[in-house]
Amino acid sequence: MAKLSLGVLISGRGSNLQALIAACASPGYPARVVQVISDQPDASGLAHAVRAGIAARTLVRGDFSSRSAFEAAIDATLRDAGVELVCLAGFMRVLSADFVAGWRDRLINVHPSLLPAFKGLDTHARVLAAGARFSGATVHFVRAEVDAGPILVQCTVPVADDDTAETLAARVLRGEHRCYPLAVRLIAEGRVAVAGERVHIAGATSPSDVVINPTED
Ligand code: GRF
Repeated sequence: MAKLSLGVLISGRGSNLQALIAACASPGYPARVVQVISDQPDASGLAHAVRAGIAARTLVRGDFSSRSAFEAAIDATLRDAGVELVCLAGFMRVLSADFVAGWRDRLINVHPSLLPAFKGLDTHARVLAAGARFSGATVHFVRAEVDAGPILVQCTVPVADDDTAETLAARVLRGEHRCYPLAVRLIAEGRVAVAGERVHIAGATSPSDVVINPTED
């Protein structure tokens, strides 16, 4: 079966991009990254694309006269590369409703919380301030509202008493690196159906037990 062609949009370090590249290198993985776009010329994540021999392009908002011209360049780059699914991976710009509509149900994002809780920035500090016992990561279809859209895959991680935003972020990031390749694989295998706000995944199994944090001993 033909592999699903991915476009990945980044702004920074690109560890989720690297997780996708690594997954795509596994035999039998049903997707491949064909285009990476950064809106930051110095994004260290671009090196992951270069190392893997993937087309990488930097498109800087300030080089365009308007947001719509900037987004048109992103859109044209993705379409020229034959991208079928766009993956936002630490892309630090809010895409317009028009762009989102043009890629409806073919545009996904990873967010470092258990959405719909803790949308937005400074997630981990807010999770700690709220005293939550769990956090996690979410891969979801993108809608015009920031950090909203039908949820594909989530994982939970425990919050420890001595966590800082940095230690919690690192734990959540390991979860992101597992969730994102799984979500892409489920889409690529044709197992995903969006029904309103819910995503149905054919043949998926779910954990069936209660998880408690802290444990008794
Ligand atoms: C991740 O935590 C992602 O959830 C958030 O930005 C971070 C990007 O990290 N949207 P990386 O660039 O993929 O390493």
